[in-house]
Amino acid sequence: MKKRLMGILVFMLLLTACSPSVGLLAPPLPTPPRPASAGEPNTLRYLASQRGFLIGAAVDADALQSDPAYADTLAREYNVVVPENVMKFSNIHPSPDIYDFSAADALVDFAQANGMLVRGHTLVWYAEDPDWVNSGNFTKDQLEQILHDHIATVVGRYKGRVFAWDVVNEAIDDNGQLRDSVWLRGIGPEYIDLAFQWAHEADPNALLFYNDYNGEGLGGKSDAIYNLVKGLHERGAPIGGVGLQMHVTLKNHPSMDDLRANIQRLARLGLVVHITEMDVRLQQPADDQALNAQAQIYKDVVQTCLAEERACQALLTWGFTDKYSWIPNFYGGFGGALPFDQSLDPKAAYNAIKAVLSGN
Ligand code: G3I
Repeated sequence: MKKRLMGILVFMLLLTACSPSVGLLAPPLPTPPRPASAGEPNTLRYLASQRGFLIGAAVDADALQSDPAYADTLAREYNVVVPENVMKFSNIHPSPDIYDFSAADALVDFAQANGMLVRGHTLVWYAEDPDWVNSGNFTKDQLEQILHDHIATVVGRYKGRVFAWDVVNEAIDDNGQLRDSVWLRGIGPEYIDLAFQWAHEADPNALLFYNDYNGEGLGGKSDAIYNLVKGLHERGAPIGGVGLQMHVTLKNHPSMDDLRANIQRLARLGLVVHITEMDVRLQQPADDQALNAQAQIYKDVVQTCLAEERACQALLTWGFTDKYSWIPNFYGGFGGALPFDQSLDPKAAYNAIKAVLSGN
């Protein structure tokens, strides 16, 4: 009897040890690159760098040039940046033979000068495609050539300076189907595999992401994203990670159990997760109760990401100050979504993120 019990115990231990989600067979994940400098003590970037974690924000290129306090706060508090708009197709490749790298170069130069990493955003999207692409009536071969040349040119220019790319953005619609786009219509579903292949050819060391919204927890769209990236991975596409955007409200956000389960199942595929565009929009004007509830959501998401920090290696907000947030223009009556207020002063959300990074 004793021998039988021992046998069962050993079998159970082996089963656990070999479970991909927690055990010895969990696929290896790349460790995040270390930013060139840790920054000043008692800042988000310093606390994050102590844990080998990346904390960042999307950058408004105009504000970076025109608002010194904006630039100073960004460099002081964050160790990774992503361009909000200036690397999008219509901005960086406005006509067939013209690329405009000026704003993107300035942002990458700023990041490099301040010891920060750069995420690239985004190579292929259904939005922000220039008219010359959307109205070109190109053949499949012509459109593949256009997309190849775009990706090779843009990724090639920032080779070694942009460590991660949102290669394909929001290719799944809200019904969990492949979203209509000039790329899907003109090339077919394989445009996604091709985009990852061409980005990898242009910079073999860059970490390549699929990026989307409303798929952070579990559910129909999350399952569709999981199945998309699982298929890419199984076909040998060089995908390295999934970006979970995390545009949420006080009432509409994933449960932390579901977020954690989603991170774990993506990690079991060998994929890294970045929270890529977090903001928690509030009905305006927001009272202290709303601001504290917002802080709690930031705290919960950072805590959940850090609990899975082998996989969840970065958290970026979509902007960092309410002064330049996209929210008011897109969601009338809403705003106040970010860790710093209109005057670039830290909010309860900032203190909540700092507390978690400090280990409290
Ligand atoms: O720069 C022009 C300006 O010259 C002009 O006067 C003005 C009025 O037309 O438009 C300005 O461009 C706007 C640009 O933001 C910069 O403010 C575009 O019209 C506007 O469409 C663009 O919106 C951006 C949106 O993506 C579409 O590209 C938002 O700033 C940006 O925050 C948002 O970001 C997306 C991510 O890329 C993907 N995930 C969702 C996220 C939020 O929608």
